[in-house]
Amino acid sequence: MRAMTTAGRTLRRSAERVAFACTECGHESPKWLGRCPGCEAWNSFAQHIAPTTSRAGSTVASAPVEIARLDVEHEPRLPVGLPEFDRVLGGGIVAGSLVLLGGDPGIGKSTLLLQMAAMRGASGRSVLYVAGEESASQVKLRAARLGIAGAGLFVSSDTNVETALAAASDLNPALVVVDSIQTVYSETAERAPGSIAQLRQCTMALMRWAKESAVPVFVVGHVTKDGDIAGPRLLEHIVDVVLYLEGERFSAYRLLRGVKNRFGSVDEVGVFEMTGDGLRGVENPSEAFIAERAADAVGSAVVPTLEGSRPVLVEVQALTSPTVTPAPRRTANGLDTNRLLLVTAVLSRRLSLPLAGLDVIANVVGGLRIAEPAADLGLALAIASSHKDRAIPGDIVALGEVGLSGELRSVSHLERRLLEAERLGFKRCVLPEATLHRQRPRTGIELVAVPDLRAAVRTVLA
Ligand code: TYD
Ligand code: MG
Repeated sequence: MRAMTTAGRTLRRSAERVAFACTECGHESPKWLGRCPGCEAWNSFAQHIAPTTSRAGSTVASAPVEIARLDVEHEPRLPVGLPEFDRVLGGGIVAGSLVLLGGDPGIGKSTLLLQMAAMRGASGRSVLYVAGEESASQVKLRAARLGIAGAGLFVSSDTNVETALAAASDLNPALVVVDSIQTVYSETAERAPGSIAQLRQCTMALMRWAKESAVPVFVVGHVTKDGDIAGPRLLEHIVDVVLYLEGERFSAYRLLRGVKNRFGSVDEVGVFEMTGDGLRGVENPSEAFIAERAADAVGSAVVPTLEGSRPVLVEVQALTSPTVTPAPRRTANGLDTNRLLLVTAVLSRRLSLPLAGLDVIANVVGGLRIAEPAADLGLALAIASSHKDRAIPGDIVALGEVGLSGELRSVSHLERRLLEAERLGFKRCVLPEATLHRQRPRTGIELVAVPDLRAAVRTVLA
């Protein structure tokens, strides 16, 4: 009798796959564990019935298909109505896609999505905005501030993801916005909204709904300063598109960057400016970023950087001043501190620039962040310029990666960068000789090729 019961239970188990999962991070295990190997939480395991693996992914089981025989329908894209946004999405929203918009609190995510929602709502079909962070009247106030009348734009404060989606199905909208994923919850997961199990369940529910209804869903996700824990990083694997809105809080410029796109490239970057009435696309970022530059300013260099595949001219500034603290400080805003340390070390050792007793502050104007080493030479020249108190001529741009022995390394996509510099009226570009071994850019700009940093400083700051 006992044996039969056991056998019966075993049978039921194999059909439903009873398992244990961590309520903190979702780590699954066939048996109960005191401490989760995934997130190291104690006593976080609870029994749950997992879907059998064959049903976890798509709902229809299908046989393998030879790619050569496959007909692809062209994914229709719906423009969102904001050209800078469409550029990043690859031309518009793909039906049924789930898009995650991440970014620091206060950077403008709600503003951007509300503007987009209003654009779509005004063009015929309705839009549903699920507001978990603000009340409906707060959303209305924001809309009023943005000059949005709100026709076709429906707001819901329902943070239960199941009922919100049921409402969405009734409304049959062109688009759904969930602001934010940290504030919605699902009945299928335990724990408070914002916990990892909740984030995952809610995102999966939204994904399923988006695919079934072919309606695109945009989800806001906050990133905390120190981390990705409980942040949208976990969700990046699930969603189709991941976008980040970046920028310095006190600067008006915002960059919308794609980091994952199942329907297109992640090379495109959208540039916005936060104004009194919302985010406005900046069609000509180079012009905007160097607009306030005083020609022949000491400690200032212009660098044609690449943001994705888009050339953007930026101004890099440096200031050297006598150290008052026991150790000299190196401060970088918008630049990688390690690049600044490297460049100052090379200037001290290879060019004998006496920087040991000086603080060095480097800054990228406009709140932009430059990650590429191609900006090294511009940074080095700005520091040298400040130290020598001599301006870099106003018609020069600089490009090149600085190596530890003071050599200059080549940069990619030279022509694209130079065309942008030329368009903005620059006449000369100082760049590594090595770059011209592999590419011959067609440009009207005079190329000042130098072998190393010493030669670059001598040429530019003579
Ligand atoms: P918000 O979209 O609420 O940020 P997030 O959703 O990413 O947390 O934007 C917050 C900031 O934007 C806030 O400090 C005020 C500013 N803002 C403007 O400057 N102009 C505007 O038209 C709006 C709506 C907001
Ligand atoms: Mg918000």
